[in-house]
Amino acid sequence: MLKAMLLEPERVWDLAPLLESCGWDDQAHVAGAGGSLAELGLVNQTESRKKIWRLASEGQAAAENGLLEQRIWDWLSQQEGQVGMKELQASDVVEKRESGAGIGLLKDLGIQLERGQFVVPSSTGAITATLEMRAKFISQLSESNGNGVQENDLDSSQIDYFTARKGIITSSEEVTRTWKLTTEGRAVKDSALEERLLVADITPELLQGEEWRSADFKPYDVTREAPTPQVGKSHPMQALIERIRAIFLEMGFTEIDGNYVTTAGWNMDALFIPQDHPAREMQDTFYLDKPKSVPLPSERTQQWADVHESGGETGSTGWGGEFSSEISQKGMLRTHTTVNTVRHLEENPDKPCRVFSIGRVFRKESIDRTHLPEFHQIEGIIMEPGASLPMLVTTLKEFYTKMGYPEVRVRPAYFPYTEPSMEVEVKWRGQWLELGGAGIFRPEVTEPLGVKWPVCAWGMGLERLAMLVLGLDDIRQLYISDLEWLSQQPVL
Ligand code: PHE
Repeated sequence: MLKAMLLEPERVWDLAPLLESCGWDDQAHVAGAGGSLAELGLVNQTESRKKIWRLASEGQAAAENGLLEQRIWDWLSQQEGQVGMKELQASDVVEKRESGAGIGLLKDLGIQLERGQFVVPSSTGAITATLEMRAKFISQLSESNGNGVQENDLDSSQIDYFTARKGIITSSEEVTRTWKLTTEGRAVKDSALEERLLVADITPELLQGEEWRSADFKPYDVTREAPTPQVGKSHPMQALIERIRAIFLEMGFTEIDGNYVTTAGWNMDALFIPQDHPAREMQDTFYLDKPKSVPLPSERTQQWADVHESGGETGSTGWGGEFSSEISQKGMLRTHTTVNTVRHLEENPDKPCRVFSIGRVFRKESIDRTHLPEFHQIEGIIMEPGASLPMLVTTLKEFYTKMGYPEVRVRPAYFPYTEPSMEVEVKWRGQWLELGGAGIFRPEVTEPLGVKWPVCAWGMGLERLAMLVLGLDDIRQLYISDLEWLSQQPVL
């Protein structure tokens, strides 16, 4: 780079001509070499930072089809007579999911909705002026063809307005540098410069030969700017699962697994959830058409019937009423991974254990910022003589501390299958967040299985935890395959 610069010693160079003169194609080389030359006092380096704005996904859609409020306004202006929400929804101007937002935007413009009818103010000059300004701003960004526009060249009130609306514009910072030889730099004699090869990449080929013995190695400078490599890596959810798995294994737990398809018997009856519990209704549970029913041994359903109706041998009075073994045999998708731990106890009633599972569960939830109908739970039990509540709390604390959240507290809660029951909360950015439930399995759960010792049990949401770890405020971000976001995620 110094050689190239010496050909025009008075020139102020920027990136493109330097890349060309040096025969490089990666700007990181210029940034790196320029930085070194500046450190040696041979060049002066200037740096200016600019904020660049671009259209985000919704903004691009607006550039093509017009902003939502513009589309509604255009439609409204063409209508004769009174029209309202009904007509708008019947038209193909807005998609169903947009109509709520559209009405909000119209209201901000001064158009009212009275008894379902739009009421436009008598003077519409202000509305069209506002819409024009917004459209102009969007097309200014759109005309930059993805290169973006410098903040200084944009209307700052429009920037403020659109940053408050989701998905329309995004910004990034760009650094521009120039390099110019200093007096010392200009004094360097080209003939005094010796080109030497510095090895930066240690490759198998290099190590197989002998040359590395006499090679000069380029020292690493971790403060230098470098391109971010776009490499394949685990999805953040997968990486998090691996990390959680490693923590439980390190704490002496063994991993167990189970099927997505189960029966109401194992998902609920075995856990002493009363058969008329509201959570069993269709709204929470995905019952299956195939298999509609899965046969269970009658000894098993009889045991549950005894416990539910009268407490069986447990000393409990049970829930009363009449237990239905048909309900037990209903096929369904598991709603929690507590089925996994209970099935493990059923198969190993007299072997003390520490086991965990990480698995997908299914609930009839509408999708929003904090809910998904398919999500994952981290579940575990400790069964051994002397298993106790303090042991449970300590175990959970240890887990969360290893995850990086040392502040943990528990609060009394209720689950039909544990007594005592608690909610587990961790402190995150100064707030307590609920991450899961825990407790000691009730005798109504353990005795029919033949379990002799107390069982500490817990279950927590993996996506909730992922939101903390990744700093998300919308759970959907985890599964929309947003490549830009995924490529920016650290390797956990
Ligand atoms: N199964 C409970 C849930 O889905 C969590 C839990 C597990 C609570 C074990 C207590 C004991 O929220």
